[in-house]
Amino acid sequence: MKKIKLAVMVSGRGSNLQAIIDYVERGDLPAEIALVVSNRANAQAVERARRHGITSIVFERSDYPSRLARDLAMTAAIEDHGVDLVVMAGYDQLVADELLVRFAGQIINIHPSLLPAFAGGLHAQADAWEYGVKLAGCTVHFVTPGPADGGQIILQKAIPVLEEDTAETLAQRILAEEHKLLPEGIRLFAEGRLELNGRRVRIKPVGSDNLYSARELLV
Ligand code: GRF
Repeated sequence: MKKIKLAVMVSGRGSNLQAIIDYVERGDLPAEIALVVSNRANAQAVERARRHGITSIVFERSDYPSRLARDLAMTAAIEDHGVDLVVMAGYDQLVADELLVRFAGQIINIHPSLLPAFAGGLHAQADAWEYGVKLAGCTVHFVTPGPADGGQIILQKAIPVLEEDTAETLAQRILAEEHKLLPEGIRLFAEGRLELNGRRVRIKPVGSDNLYSARELLV
């Protein structure tokens, strides 16, 4: 199968980036990471990319006259690398609609909650724990203009909240699931198996006839 080219957008620790790197290096994903994009120079994720010989570019907000100018520069860099899928893996800012429209149907995110619950925030796991939910989890979804984390849901994984959980242990167990769910979302995209129908994403069976890509159906 042809490998797709990924751009991975990061801001911090980069454990989800590391999971993708590990899948790619093991030959478990039909993908290559063409580019890592960070909005923070000191992100541990940038160091992970460097260690694995992956090109990374830092787009600090302070180097540009506006957030839009920064996001347009980011869009151009991703385009220049011939990217098929943009993966937000712990990117901690909203991005300009221009970037989302340019990569409509080709940009996904991992969020550490069962959406639409606990959308938007940076502490979804702790919010869920404090709220007292009995089921928590993570979601891989398309990123669209509009409310944060409001794009079409591709995959979700639920885990029980245990009596002995703290916000931290719950977050750790959700993270372990993220490291499997995000690569699985990338695989489904790479295999051309995601079909968008309004808010719903149909996962086509293996070997089905892939007449339309997600992007083609959106426009
Ligand atoms: C993850 O929990 C992800 O779901 C959220 O930000 C966190 C990033 O962690 N969007 P890491 O940088 O991948 O370790």
